[in-house]
Amino acid sequence: MIILGIETSCDETGAAVIQTTSQTLPVLLLSNVVASSLSLHAQTGGIIPEIAAREQVKYILPVIEKALHEAKKNMDDIDALAVTYGPGLIGSLLVGVETVKTLSYIYDKPIIPVNHMYGHIYANWILTEKDQTTNKQLSLTFPALALVVSGGHTDLVLMKNHGDVEVIGQTRDDAAGEAFDKIGRLVGLPYPAGPLISQLAKKGNAKAYDLPRPMIGSKDFDFSFSGLKTAVLTLSKTNPEVKDLLTTIAKTPSLAELSSADKQQLADICASVEEAIVASIVSKTIKAAKEYKVTSLILGGGVAANTKLQKTLENRITALHLPVKLSIPETSLCTDNGAMIAAAAFYQNQDVSWKNVTVNPELYY
Ligand code: KG4
Ligand code: ZN
Repeated sequence: MIILGIETSCDETGAAVIQTTSQTLPVLLLSNVVASSLSLHAQTGGIIPEIAAREQVKYILPVIEKALHEAKKNMDDIDALAVTYGPGLIGSLLVGVETVKTLSYIYDKPIIPVNHMYGHIYANWILTEKDQTTNKQLSLTFPALALVVSGGHTDLVLMKNHGDVEVIGQTRDDAAGEAFDKIGRLVGLPYPAGPLISQLAKKGNAKAYDLPRPMIGSKDFDFSFSGLKTAVLTLSKTNPEVKDLLTTIAKTPSLAELSSADKQQLADICASVEEAIVASIVSKTIKAAKEYKVTSLILGGGVAANTKLQKTLENRITALHLPVKLSIPETSLCTDNGAMIAAAAFYQNQDVSWKNVTVNPELYY
């Protein structure tokens, strides 16, 4: 089966083609094209939904054409169309859903509407071209624990099988990616700050600032990150050195122009923030993996691209001798893309008439 997957729930416009064989095997990635309006949002410190949707109207058809071209397929080869119908920004979701409904009507193809959250999970069932050349085997077994960490979600999802899932933990306030982005904005970094904080943190001292890890010791599997944001805000108002640094950053056109002492201090703040976020996520995730005796731990969402999170989880699993296979999609499959939507559609395998496909911005699992 060949599936064309479309993703437009936030600021990305993604289209991808996958080839499937059996539900017991991963899908093969034939192409994966993503256009982003991120640079437009960097100037405003966050996404302006109307601007994102307007850009997506411009990108959607060229992105689909490019994905088909790179996969060396045309619409006649496509067996099903997969599309994100929620959760997300309503205007953005509409661009993908209405495009796919039109394609379905014109080319008489079935539509499989996909929940974006399942997309992040199913990014782990994709074999890339590189995986195929290195003979990487994907042998994910159930029960699995999925950690979905993105700009909008921080969820721990227990999967007993395809289609048999239970949310066992979630954030009570900000999502992990949102915490990275909001704290980044506080210290003067452009949106989205997650990748930049992670990069700057590599040269920083994670113990330089003692930041809170809210709910790390609570009995449940929930998370909370807004206290961390408040702690950094308080630090920026009460610590004279941090206050001076933030004033300097605000006046300096580019981070490269900061003095080496300022660069080091910024790196220390970033490392301390990253450490606090990663410690909270890892603690609850490992606790849940042990309690539910899962055999696979699978990551998804933009924050799953964070190397400190990846390494810390890996080290804890090894140190505790947990019989758990850790699966992390490659970076381009962690952040929003059409391939993960096509993959989720294959394992879900339920098509819907184009007349009945509607967006649902509030959708959960
Ligand atoms: O999954 P995603 O592309 O979009 C949503 O569904 O939200 O995730 C975007 C989020 C942003 O908050 C971004 O700052 C964060 O993922 N992110 C990272 C990294 N790469 C992306 N956060 C920390 N470290 C990274 N390397
Ligand atoms: Zn996402």
